[in-house]
Amino acid sequence: MKLVFATNNLNKLKEVQLLVPEHITLLSLKDIGCTEDIPETANTLEGNAQLKANYITKKYNLPCFADDTGLLVNVLNGEPGVYSARYAGEQKSSEDNMNLLLEKLKNKTDRSAHFKTVIALNINNTQTLFQGIAKGEITKTKEGLEGFGYDPIFKPEGYNKTFAELSIKTKNLISHRGKAMIQLMEHLNILFH
Ligand code: IMP
Repeated sequence: MKLVFATNNLNKLKEVQLLVPEHITLLSLKDIGCTEDIPETANTLEGNAQLKANYITKKYNLPCFADDTGLLVNVLNGEPGVYSARYAGEQKSSEDNMNLLLEKLKNKTDRSAHFKTVIALNINNTQTLFQGIAKGEITKTKEGLEGFGYDPIFKPEGYNKTFAELSIKTKNLISHRGKAMIQLMEHLNILFH
């Protein structure tokens, strides 16, 4: 079965690829020839995941799923949340985003935060949403070279390392995206068995 993952983020693709069984061939936006920057204009993670998945369904009529992820920091009332990608500006730079967040948390003792991923799956004319949450805290400095985005400053609960210091396999076991993907896979198993 071919399933489109509506992303061109190679890091996300790598993570998700490891979670998908062999009988599912994952296609990226590039694989289906979609070069447009799909608008993410909703003000919720759910809305953006739905926008992206619906765009692909309408234009390509292929089974697909899209994810949207936000980092929510408690002491900042859930910032940067749905605006995580462009927190420090339209250049969407992870370095700038992390620097801004570290600056805002400079004198804060409560550094608790969580990642939230919402996935919208469009298959057989039906849309299903899945959600995954990873709790943790924002570190004071950037640590680690793996992963992407805010990974170097996020230490998941129960670990003394940031996501960027963990292997993809370990991150997948505990991450927001990993948890949402497991539910998606269970859903597909029920649909096709
Ligand atoms: P989006 O889901 O691609 O829109 O991601 C929103 C923002 O969160 C971007 O700045 C990403 O780099 C960041 N992000 C998404 N997923 C992760 C993750 O698993 N770890 C760290 N940062 C992430």
